[in-house]
Amino acid sequence: MTATKGLEGIVATTSSISSIIDGVLTYRGINIDDLAENATFEEVVYLLWYGKLPNRSELSGLIQELNSNAAVPAEVLNQIKLYPKDVNTMAALRTAVSSLALYDPEAGDMTPESNLRKAIKLQAQLPTIVAAFDRIRKGLEPIAPKADAGSISENFLYMLTGKNPEKIAIEALDKALVLHADHELNASTFAARVTVATLSDIYSGVTSAIGALKGPLHGGANEAVMAMLEEIGTAANVKSYITEKLENKQKIMGFGHRVYKNGDPRAKHLQKMSQELGKLTGNMNWYDMSIQIEELVTGQKGLKPNVDFYSASVYTSLEIPRDLFTPIFAISRTSGWTAHILEQYENNRLIRPRAEYTGPSHQAYVPIEKR
Ligand code: ACO
Repeated sequence: MTATKGLEGIVATTSSISSIIDGVLTYRGINIDDLAENATFEEVVYLLWYGKLPNRSELSGLIQELNSNAAVPAEVLNQIKLYPKDVNTMAALRTAVSSLALYDPEAGDMTPESNLRKAIKLQAQLPTIVAAFDRIRKGLEPIAPKADAGSISENFLYMLTGKNPEKIAIEALDKALVLHADHELNASTFAARVTVATLSDIYSGVTSAIGALKGPLHGGANEAVMAMLEEIGTAANVKSYITEKLENKQKIMGFGHRVYKNGDPRAKHLQKMSQELGKLTGNMNWYDMSIQIEELVTGQKGLKPNVDFYSASVYTSLEIPRDLFTPIFAISRTSGWTAHILEQYENNRLIRPRAEYTGPSHQAYVPIEKR
């Protein structure tokens, strides 16, 4: 038995949800470029869950269901009020999502209908939790979700600020959600599938996934990118900062990918959005710095930006706090996680790989008084 470090190249399951073939990403066979240009996030959620694009009435039915499930139990909001104000946002989200299960009477119901209902609840409630936590930590009252929101993006931005968001902000966030919705067997989706393959419940699966997404090698990279941009400060400092990092063999966050070696197809959409929003807000600093960083990292290391790189400047232009970037990733990826969980339940087998043992062999047991 020989281990493959990081399971690189190992095909661990079959799935009909999303594919990455020859560097092309599809959701249910539809190219991500087409979806990014044309689809709303709710269309994508429907596509991931039901395997087809919705017609108008199916889409408005889903939006209605998301709106009517968006309120979070008062007990969970009260618990969030007890969290330390400076706690990590992903840790807060992980804890709150786990506690949703405590107040859902059908949490342990394993029927497919119940699991689909819970997928809808999770997709609807995550944005409410993230917005509520942000307000509570600032000493503000959480804002209840709109009952007639046109989209998750609209409702989320409304719950964050209490103001009706501008159309351009809703559209930009919506596109970011489309681009982050699913990504084959990424680390957090795999974590979700491993958890539910024991026939544990969907809340446990999504809680595991949030824990996995939190790390800086996965979803946490978007926050780390913004921290780097802020540290560099201006375009004039980019060259020396990046060159020094690369010389010291340090990683530049937002670059490289386990699967894409010739570039992440999602990055160009976020780059375009970053540029447009920069022009609109009159602050091109983050975009200009990002372009310079890309030139240097690609030129010197051959590494291309991944989905996290330009999403940092996009969210900053939307005035979203840096430590909400990864929770927003989680809001979007909940669609993919739950689609994969439902698929896992449909054709389940316990996921239990082996380890190549590298410890000592044939050790004698030494009684405690002789150690
Ligand atoms: N900056 C500088 N060098 C890098 C980077 C980077 N961002 N990424 C990879 N490298 C280098 C490594 O140092 C290594 O060099 P070496 O062979 O000289 O030791 C080589 O490229 C291979 O890198 P690995 O880390 O082995 O590649 P792996 O496939 O394991 O990792 C990963 C992929 C984790 C995404 C990596 O590229 C990375 O750490 N990137 C930065 C974090 C990041 O942006 N994560 C988000 C990924 S997308 C997502 O999850 C949504």
